[in-house]
Amino acid sequence: MGRIFVTRELPFEALDRLRAEHELDVWEGDLPPGPEALRERAAAADALLTLVTDPVDADLIAACPELKAIANMAVGTDNVDLEAAAERGIPVGNTPDVLTDATADLAFALLLALARRIPQGAALVRDGGWRTWEPAGDLGADLSGATLGIVGRGRIGEAVARRAEGFGLEVLHSSRSSGLPLGKLLERSDFVSLHSPLTPETRHMINDETLARMQPTALLVNTSRGGVVDQAALRRALVGGAIAGAALDVTDPEPLPADDPLLEAPNLLVVPHVGSATVRTREKMAAMAVENLLAALAGRRMPYPV
Ligand code: GLV
Repeated sequence: MGRIFVTRELPFEALDRLRAEHELDVWEGDLPPGPEALRERAAAADALLTLVTDPVDADLIAACPELKAIANMAVGTDNVDLEAAAERGIPVGNTPDVLTDATADLAFALLLALARRIPQGAALVRDGGWRTWEPAGDLGADLSGATLGIVGRGRIGEAVARRAEGFGLEVLHSSRSSGLPLGKLLERSDFVSLHSPLTPETRHMINDETLARMQPTALLVNTSRGGVVDQAALRRALVGGAIAGAALDVTDPEPLPADDPLLEAPNLLVVPHVGSATVRTREKMAAMAVENLLAALAGRRMPYPV
């Protein structure tokens, strides 16, 4: 029997399977443990079940002498120091595939919301500003016939491309190993959707220089990681009209403080990192994280290793 620290209560039956075989210490707060609490509670653990909100850095790993497995309930693992884990021979698991469609759906929801000005229309109605059917009121952009630039060609980028086909969009790709150079894609795209993992190479890939390559009518959607976008540069681009709008599911930091200057920018829509937030998807993610831990603590290979 191992001791597992689970950094948040999960609303699914998956934890029951872990509880049947191991001793669980489940963080009781509805907000993530702070760095000290995380370190303190993780210190005696044989395994961790973590979320994207938990920084599992080299110091934390060093502070857990018994640690034998880390299951991150996310596809992204930028919150985990993979090298530090590998040096100790600690397997790290993630939850790929099951959230691909939900995240691609959200990217499309954000694109449609921006292109058809849905938040503005909803606010107008709620504020009593709906006077009549206006021939030139609240005009948005057509998707069909437009060009969507997809940055990052992993599973989610591909799922967005499949949806784009149904909407009659022309798709361009840019990734580390294929497609167009980023600058060319940005110049040619009416809409740009980001799907790159956060790495030292992709941090602030969208910055003053790259935003300047985009069209002034272009819309930017980010459902990858907040750090891929330099938010100060994005604010300047929206305020100065270098691009026409942006929708973000991810920010840096998260949560984005309500008084962050970015939120004063025009034509900006921000939602609270909900790419995978559907009942079915989150249930599957929890089950995969649990399967990773059950395997690793039984001395088997994780079924979903990073
Ligand atoms: C969510 O952002 C994830 O990586 O699963």
